[in-house]
Amino acid sequence: MSKVGIIGYGVVGSGTVELFEKNKESISKKVGRDCDIKYICDLRDFPGDPFEDKLVKDFNVILNDEEIEVVAEVVGGATFAYEYTKKLLERGKSVVTSNKELVATHGAELLSIARAHNCNYLFEASVGGGIPIIRPLNKCLAGNEIEQISGILNGTTNFILSKMIKDQMDFESALKMAQELGYAEKDPTADVEGHDACRKICILGSLAYGKQIYPETVHCSGISRITLDDVEYAENAGYAIKLIGSVKPAGEGHVSAIVCPRLVSKSNLLASVDDVYNAISVTGDGVGDVLFYGQGAGKLPTASAVVGDIIDCLKHHNRVLAMSWEDSHDKSYVVDYKTQETSMYVRIKAEDADALKPAISEMFGKLMYIERAGRPENELAFITPNMVEADIDTNLTILSHSCEIASKIRLL
Ligand code: HSE
Repeated sequence: MSKVGIIGYGVVGSGTVELFEKNKESISKKVGRDCDIKYICDLRDFPGDPFEDKLVKDFNVILNDEEIEVVAEVVGGATFAYEYTKKLLERGKSVVTSNKELVATHGAELLSIARAHNCNYLFEASVGGGIPIIRPLNKCLAGNEIEQISGILNGTTNFILSKMIKDQMDFESALKMAQELGYAEKDPTADVEGHDACRKICILGSLAYGKQIYPETVHCSGISRITLDDVEYAENAGYAIKLIGSVKPAGEGHVSAIVCPRLVSKSNLLASVDDVYNAISVTGDGVGDVLFYGQGAGKLPTASAVVGDIIDCLKHHNRVLAMSWEDSHDKSYVVDYKTQETSMYVRIKAEDADALKPAISEMFGKLMYIERAGRPENELAFITPNMVEADIDTNLTILSHSCEIASKIRLL
């Protein structure tokens, strides 16, 4: 009998138990042995829970039980989860997780501990919820040089933006709805300000380029300053606003990585990814473009990836599944985003905004002005040509002497 432990009985933990128990028979067949969840560790009480007999409060019960082969760490955060994961791996117990914060900050170290102790650290659920992306990158696409990865990596913000675009719902109400549906992090700032998407693009970039990308080295901005006016201008010009994480090689062993809202052309498949769905576009030098799409958050979609990893660990007990990346403390590994080229949507406010058109056109050369119904006289919106971002900023600083720069959103 193969025994499994679960640490954390929140949204993902309870989904993992529910899915595992529902499909236990077929899971046992796939593993080739009978499998069971022996413990669920959580400090809280769950009176009347159908799995009350499996609940324990002391992590050491799981750590010290020789029968436990695999543990799902679905606690989140990088404090207790880090300590627990290290201890478990050092005992040779495989760990699977949905904890993107931990993988993004300590992935290289934890993978190397797992290797040294002949067990596995798997984290398919850490990026894209139920979407298979870690394994495809690590295995199916391993023959390619990855030219770029970009995607909608946060279900909560995509849900909010979809509600703003489609239902003209305000930001706060849409966020509340996402929280009620169990999509949001405990502290929704991590979703809204892009930190969650940042951790995910760091994991994908670390895997694709073989070196740890630390979230603090990646420029990250969220969606809290996007207004319904921006949404309308974008819509009129044929774009949808999406929070996009992207990573690509930047030459001489460096990478470029950034998380920010972007205007995505409606001809791009990412523009039609709505609600809690995520989509990740990967370009390889052999395969060309591939797109991974599915539910990026939520109880059972995320549990699907966690249970898949549990099965993989049980099937490969005492066998290391090759997956790793180097640690990197080179602060210049991720290049300064201001050195990269982009087009920018800009919305300005000035008493007579149209009077600034000649100056703006002279600054940027070939640019596109965009409209919205009932555009007030004191507002103007335009899209710059593709330029180095630092040069766009220089122009906008000059322009800001005669107007207010109300919004700045990059194009994809
Ligand atoms: N809060 C995350 C999201 C959960 O909304 O995408 C899944 O990682």
